[in-house]
Amino acid sequence: MLRRLHPEQPESFAFTPANQEWAEAQMTKYPEGRQASAIIPLLWRAQEQEGWLTRPAIESVAEMLGLAYMRALEVASFYFMYQLQPVGTVANIQICGTTSCMICGAEDLVSVCRDKIAPKPHMLSADGKLSWEEVECLGACANAPMAQIGKDYYEDLTAERLGEIIDALVAGEVPVPGPQNGRFAAEPKSGLTSLQEYNSGDYKYNASVTLATDLGDTVKRIDGTEVPLLTPWLDAANKATPPKPGPDDMMPPEGPDGAQGGRAKGDKPAPRNVGDSSDKHSEAPGEAPDVDAKGHPPIEGAAGNKANDNPEVDVDADRRAALDDDEYAEGTKDTAGATSDAGAAQKKSKPAALSAPRDGQADDLKRIKGVGPKLEALCNDLGFYHFDQIANWSAAEIAWVDENLQGFKGRVSRDNWVDQAKTLASGGETEFSSRARKGDV
Ligand code: FES
Repeated sequence: MLRRLHPEQPESFAFTPANQEWAEAQMTKYPEGRQASAIIPLLWRAQEQEGWLTRPAIESVAEMLGLAYMRALEVASFYFMYQLQPVGTVANIQICGTTSCMICGAEDLVSVCRDKIAPKPHMLSADGKLSWEEVECLGACANAPMAQIGKDYYEDLTAERLGEIIDALVAGEVPVPGPQNGRFAAEPKSGLTSLQEYNSGDYKYNASVTLATDLGDTVKRIDGTEVPLLTPWLDAANKATPPKPGPDDMMPPEGPDGAQGGRAKGDKPAPRNVGDSSDKHSEAPGEAPDVDAKGHPPIEGAAGNKANDNPEVDVDADRRAALDDDEYAEGTKDTAGATSDAGAAQKKSKPAALSAPRDGQADDLKRIKGVGPKLEALCNDLGFYHFDQIANWSAAEIAWVDENLQGFKGRVSRDNWVDQAKTLASGGETEFSSRARKGDV
C-alpha cells in the first residue's frame, strides 16, 4: 500500500506540556548520542495526542531528536501503526487480512466495515467517528479472524459480532476486547487441555484482557496528564506511584512442586509479559509502564518487562552484548533495588558539591558507563568532579541528581553510577571502564 502524507496538513504541531515532558524523559532511556532511537515512542505519542500523524508532528519529533525530516518520515511511512491521514474521532478499525484471518472470514469483516463505516479504507464515516483499513498479520492468528481497535485486539470475530462492536463504539461504549466467542484465550475450541485452573471460573478475563480493561485507554486520546512523566516511578504530581495489587496477586503462578508454572486458586492472572504467546494485548509503544511484582513499573533491562517502548528494537541488546550473563543479572538486580528505594521514599537532597576539582584535576567521569561528554559537563556544572563524590551519594542524593540532570533525568539510578564510582574511586576497574581504556567503546 502506498503510504504518503495527507494532502491537507495543519499549520503546526506541539506536544502538550505533559507530553513534551514525557517525550524528553523517553529520550533519556537511550545512550548518549542515540536519542534518535526514541523516534517510535515519540511518533506514537504524537499520534496519540492528535489522533493521526501530521507532517508538522513528524517534523517536530525529528527536530527533537536531531534527525533529518526524511529520516523521521521514513519511519512514519513504514509502519502501518502510524496513521498518515485523519482517522475516525472514536476509532480506526484495523482488520487483519492475512492468511489465517482471511480463511477464517476477514473478508466478511471488511464487508461489515464497508457497510457500516465507509465504502473504502481510510475514508471517514459520515459522522466522522470511525474509519477502517485492512492490515497485515497482527500476530493473533490462533484467534482469527481478528481486528485491532485502538490499542486492543478483538478476536474470534464474526461479521455479526463486529457489527455489534461498531455500533457500541458509535454509541460511546468500549466493548471488552479479547476473544468474542467465549474462548478464554487461545486454547482449543474444545477447551483447555492444560492449565486447567482457568476452567475454574475464578478468572473473568485472560491476562491480556484484564490489563486492557484495567488500563481502559483503548480508544482514548492521550494528553500526557494520565501517565507517569518524570521517571517511570513518579506520577504526574511528582509523587511515587502508589502500589497496585500486592506481590501475591501479581506473582507468576506456582506449579505443584512450588516452582513457578501454576497458580493458586483465587489468585488473579499474572500480569502480561512481553513475549507471552498467550497474550496478545496490543500495547502501544511509548505507553506508560505497568507495574512489576512490587507494584512499581518494570525496570529497564529486567527480563520480560515492557520498559522498551519500541516493539521493533531491543534497546537492551547492546547492554546484554556488553555484559556477561552474571553481570547483566547483577545489573538489573541493582537497578531494581535502586528503583524500589526511589519509589518508596523520593526524598531528595543535593549532594555536597565542589566549586572546582581538587588539585585542579577532575576525574574522567566518562569512565562511568552511561556518562558521556555532555553528562560529564553537566556533572561538573553541578560541582561533581570526582568518583569518590559520586560513590558516597545516598539514596536521597541520587534522587536529587537524577532529578536535576536536565535532559538526562534518571540516569544515575538507571546506570548505577554509585556502584561504578565506588569501584573506580578505589582504584579498580569496571567492565566498562576497562573496555573504555582499551578504546573498545
Ligand atoms: Fe490475522 Fe495473523 S493472520 S493475526
